[in-house]
Amino acid sequence: MGASDALRVNGGRPLTGEITVRGAKNFVSKAMVASLLGESPSVLRNVPAIRDVAVVGGLLELHGVGVDLDEDAGVLRLDPSRVETAHVADIDAHAGSSRIPILFCGPLLHRLGEAFIPDLGGCRIGDRPINYHLDILRQFGAVVEKRDQGIYIHAPQRLRGTKLTLPYPSVGATEQLLLTAVRADGITELANAAIEPEILDLIAVLQKMGAIISVDTDRVIRIEGVDRLTGYRHTALSDRIEAASWASAALATGGDIMVRGATQPEMTTFLNTFRKVGGEFEIDDVGIRFYHPGGELRSIVLETDVHPGFMTDWQQPLVVALTQATGLSIVHETVYENRFGFTDALRRMGATIQVYRECLGGRPCRFGQRNFFHSAVVSGPTPLRAADVEVPDLRGGFSHLIAALTASGTSTVHGIGLIDRGYERFTEKLGALGAEFTRI
Ligand code: EPU
Repeated sequence: MGASDALRVNGGRPLTGEITVRGAKNFVSKAMVASLLGESPSVLRNVPAIRDVAVVGGLLELHGVGVDLDEDAGVLRLDPSRVETAHVADIDAHAGSSRIPILFCGPLLHRLGEAFIPDLGGCRIGDRPINYHLDILRQFGAVVEKRDQGIYIHAPQRLRGTKLTLPYPSVGATEQLLLTAVRADGITELANAAIEPEILDLIAVLQKMGAIISVDTDRVIRIEGVDRLTGYRHTALSDRIEAASWASAALATGGDIMVRGATQPEMTTFLNTFRKVGGEFEIDDVGIRFYHPGGELRSIVLETDVHPGFMTDWQQPLVVALTQATGLSIVHETVYENRFGFTDALRRMGATIQVYRECLGGRPCRFGQRNFFHSAVVSGPTPLRAADVEVPDLRGGFSHLIAALTASGTSTVHGIGLIDRGYERFTEKLGALGAEFTRI
């Protein structure tokens, strides 16, 4: 699917019906990488049919891992018994398609003593540096060399456990540390770790493989390195970002969506906010029904944060619903410095949104004195009108789609190939919810 793909959307009608979300993109890709550490095959269930899974599967195959995916059943078998060094040119062909390659480092250093990482892609939502990752690898004793097309990393001797503190509880850096420490020599202790549910599920996978890991309530993770790990059998936790995206779509369009597979514990913070805005939900054993009860939505003050805070990835879809709320909403983005670019298109569609450099809302964050437009004030309710928009990144793109579905008239959303990276069969789901659209 090319980035030139577009969707013509006839908006202005509520989305109603039932859809299913499967495993979390931001867990499944990491669990796939973890399989490299095992000496026997792994089986992962509840795997979504998204492009990121295909990209990571392709990278694993380049390294000699047998990858067998039954897309409909959502079952992925990974056989790492013949892991080998991939050709630099082959890996480089994947450059720009994902940020996951950086997480191959620890496992490849253990298996092969070396790793090559192409220049990294991922969503355009700020600089997204990898300095924490490289610092961690160095602390374990790896040598990092910058080369023309990427980074070459090697381990002159067995990696050894270490003690470190992250400057910020980065999800990827915490995963980097876990995937490296489990087979390093001795004990590793990480302070100020990220504790997102996807990370805890990765820890569950690693424990099934034979790792020894404890997580304290004060963001300290301790790992005792072991010599060998086996494969695992695991069912992925569900995608709380996708679930919240559909919930926001229900709210913005005045609809009613049953999201099968959505789970409450991972979404507590989102559910609180959804309720404060005026959305209603019903939770049962199979999922969560999100709906607009009629009447006015309420404006809120919202701050994104690391878990257990309000996820940055929930922010963009919810902002579209906030354009329909009465009064002034304040949104302070504290995870990424540049995650309001998507609001340009919303403004063209009639939304009243101002972005600010200052930290608005509760507390100052690390972007406050640094010239980043990382706070937004949304004034509503404003009817949205149709427009031609271009998908800027995965979550911003889904927001544009929600805005097009909310707006009266016919919008064209360009570049929807990016949405396939993380939203499984989203056009099928839109169809099931009664949306009117054509893929062009
Ligand atoms: N950061 C650094 N240096 C580093 C790594 C991170 O400064 O070496 C900074 C980032 O620039 C950012 C902050 O730390 O300001 C947090 O980034 P983090 O490392 O936590 O993010 P990530 O691991 O790159 C994952 C998800 C993102 C999600 C974030 C936060 C994956 C593949 N990606 O990214 O998901 O927004 O955690 O929860 O797991 C998405 O799904 O659309 C997406 C962007």
